[in-house]
Amino acid sequence: SQLRTVVQGMPKAELHIHIEGSLEPELIFALAERNGVKLTYPSVDALRQAYAFTDLQSFLDIYYAGASVLLKEQDFYDMTAAYLKKAEADNVRHTEIFFDPQTHTARGVPMETVINGIYNACQDSPVSASLILCFLRHLSEDDAMATLEQALPFRDKYIGVGLDSSEVGHPPEKFARVFERCRGLGLHIVAHAGEEGPPAYIQSALDVLKVERIDHGVRILEDQALTERVAREGIALTVCPLSNTKLRVFDQMKDHNLVQLLDAGLVATVNSDDPAYFGGYMNDNFLAVFESLPLGLSHAQRLARNSFAAAFLPDAQKQAFL
Ligand code: HPA
Ligand code: ZN
Repeated sequence: SQLRTVVQGMPKAELHIHIEGSLEPELIFALAERNGVKLTYPSVDALRQAYAFTDLQSFLDIYYAGASVLLKEQDFYDMTAAYLKKAEADNVRHTEIFFDPQTHTARGVPMETVINGIYNACQDSPVSASLILCFLRHLSEDDAMATLEQALPFRDKYIGVGLDSSEVGHPPEKFARVFERCRGLGLHIVAHAGEEGPPAYIQSALDVLKVERIDHGVRILEDQALTERVAREGIALTVCPLSNTKLRVFDQMKDHNLVQLLDAGLVATVNSDDPAYFGGYMNDNFLAVFESLPLGLSHAQRLARNSFAAAFLPDAQKQAFL
């Protein structure tokens, strides 16, 4: 169809992708074999069968189990290179990649192994790529602070910090001090908020952490004053449609509020979140929303423009991608 051709051909930026969530079952098994890691699933098919999620936590349990096969710098490199190939095929010109160091350092993998593997794959790709270090919000702020400390020797290899993992019960303000420190270091600031958590978490991400973008943020429409503020301030939302339906934030794609977000004047973008787990990469996410929602070609172009507008790139570089 014409839409498929337009979506495929549009230059776009991806602003919400967890690199550990790009680990395909086949690569999980290959790395398990290479590293002598025992998996609790007997086969690729059995693992894929387990990808039937009921909420965020049911996904996170399997996502952290999958990441346990990553041990060596080459493993992080191979995972990242595989994602960047998919991004390139989808005409993603720029990507800002989240990584979760605590998932790995807690297993004894050195910080430099994690960062160097991911970073070197980015250097070797034709796709422009920057890294955003995410703190796991189910862990303590002290643990986040220690993680930041471990990552400081590699400060030139990531451009920002984010906040992910189990949202409800772990509000942004739990991490006020570590994000203050990050701001002092000149890092870009983002946080997951309003995926499963209430609009109050979006508000404290803005007011306490001082985020420049909100990851997910789809529950914002429950608070009209907050919606108007975020629209006025031009703070982007990195929306992940396939993630939202797989994790039952919305029952079905036809129930997704992307159209309402755009109609409210919000700078919404479309992203893949954890493409190996949620059934698709960037263009799959675009095609899924266009199939189910009343969106047209002009919306596709608007979403692509939004993705560059919200990227952490100098204006001249954004122009060069369009
Ligand atoms: N939400 C919170 N944490 C995550 C996600 C998400 O969508 N993906 C990977 N970690
Ligand atoms: Zn996410």
